[in-house]
Amino acid sequence: MKNILCIGAGYVGGPTMAVIADQCPDHTITVVDINADRINAWNSDQLPIYEPGLLEVVTRARGRNLFFSTDIDGAIKAADIIFVSVNTPTKTFGHGAGMASDLQYWERTARQILANSDRPKIIVEKSTLPVRTAAAMERILNSGDNGLRFQVLSNPEFLAEGSAIRDLMDPDRVLIGGQETEAGRAAVNELVEIYASWVPRERILCTNVWSSELSKLAANAFLAQRISSINAISALCEQTEANVDEVARAIGLDSRIGPKFLRASVGFGGSCFKKDILNLVYLCRSYGLHEVADYWQQVVTFNDHQTQRFAANITAQMFNTVAGKKIALFGFAFKADTGDTRESPAIYVAKSLIAEKADVWINDPKALKNARSALGDAPVQLEPDPYVAADGAHALAILTEWQSYQKLDYQRIYDSMQKPAFVFDGRNLLDHQALFDIGFNVFPIGRPPLTHLT
Ligand code: NAD
Ligand code: UDX
Repeated sequence: MKNILCIGAGYVGGPTMAVIADQCPDHTITVVDINADRINAWNSDQLPIYEPGLLEVVTRARGRNLFFSTDIDGAIKAADIIFVSVNTPTKTFGHGAGMASDLQYWERTARQILANSDRPKIIVEKSTLPVRTAAAMERILNSGDNGLRFQVLSNPEFLAEGSAIRDLMDPDRVLIGGQETEAGRAAVNELVEIYASWVPRERILCTNVWSSELSKLAANAFLAQRISSINAISALCEQTEANVDEVARAIGLDSRIGPKFLRASVGFGGSCFKKDILNLVYLCRSYGLHEVADYWQQVVTFNDHQTQRFAANITAQMFNTVAGKKIALFGFAFKADTGDTRESPAIYVAKSLIAEKADVWINDPKALKNARSALGDAPVQLEPDPYVAADGAHALAILTEWQSYQKLDYQRIYDSMQKPAFVFDGRNLLDHQALFDIGFNVFPIGRPPLTHLT
């Protein structure tokens, strides 16, 4: 029986520990955070994040072998293995501002672990960090005058929001990086045994620490690169009457390319892709690899362009002015099945329409609260009923691929809107021909528009 602790009760720490607790009933799992509101929410049935299936898993284990607490010092003292899953945002100050990882939360945690430990522990780097962070942290942890020796492992998390529970229950792989020493290998084996409770051993991959850290950044960079690639093709499709979904299908059937992650969109969002690529770019520059840095930077630069061109097209198609026009944004989360709005393309689209003096109404099944924090006191209406959001609007912009938007009565929506009525489908989610037949002017991503305007 092990005492497992996770520091950081966010989108990664909460679901990951809930699944470990669920799958390893013999271990005791405690999750701590400095944010007391978050911990209170984890201890209630109104969890702090929306994730399909999460409440069921938490409810099964909470109070049995899963505990949420704010007593960080006490929990460190009791722990054998400590996962660190605090946030690692992009630095906003000093050297590397706007690019490098802000490591202050991580270092503070390392020092707190050191101050509260009277025996050696295994520290697991769950947060996504620049290559060589584990080694630096090991140096801090092993600098105490108590002679304690800690092992720091890298165990990056590959879950995606919206499918976190499925990803954790049935991961493509679990990656564990450790020192290639006897003590390092022993620590790796302890962690392997935990995951092996439910993950087939052939999917548990052990590497050196640096490969593990770099693999996480590389995986996100490759995934984001595919989206920027198909989005770049979408811009060309719009000029040439090619259909990006047909192109994606045609290239995706090549088994070397594969069909996943080729959905053209208003741009990728989320807390990871941009941050991790900028981190990779910064790392490359710091080693003087400027061409490598420029290569990855372009994935982010193009993504920003894709979102900007979507927003600019709304104004351009609506006779070059949206001032005073009601526009309904359907979706604000950065993807479906989450309430998370971090780096959501909807933030940019909303702000640019506000700058054009549009009357912006936002609907989202799960993200209205986060939309308010993302937009501060910007003048927007947050409306839980999509029909009310669309009532009297000149245009709808689909920004998140919630399936519920496919089931709405678009004849009813059309009838309630100003004419000519526009749909800008930033996710190619809806049936464009059906909308056109109702009377809408439809502007998809990477497909020719369907318009009644002459
Ligand atoms: P998050 O912001 O949702 O959660 C981090 C939590 O850590 C917060 O609740 C914060 O209060 C807490 N925290 C910060 N400093 C602390 C401290 N000193 N002591 C105790 N708690 C502290 O972040 P997240 O989305 O869970 O991401 C965590 C890490 O995992 C990041 O490095 C991220 O890149 C990585 N990651 C995220 C995802 C994802 O989908 N969100 C997926 C894979 C990896
Ligand atoms: C991502 C990685 O997938 C995950 O492995 C990592 O651990 C964290 O970062 P996440 O950001 O939660 O996960 O969601 P993901 O499904 O990757 O989507 C990211 C963004 O890309 C979303 O805005 C999504 O809408 C967009 N996207 C995704 C596309 O625009 N097209 C696609 O084909 C796929």
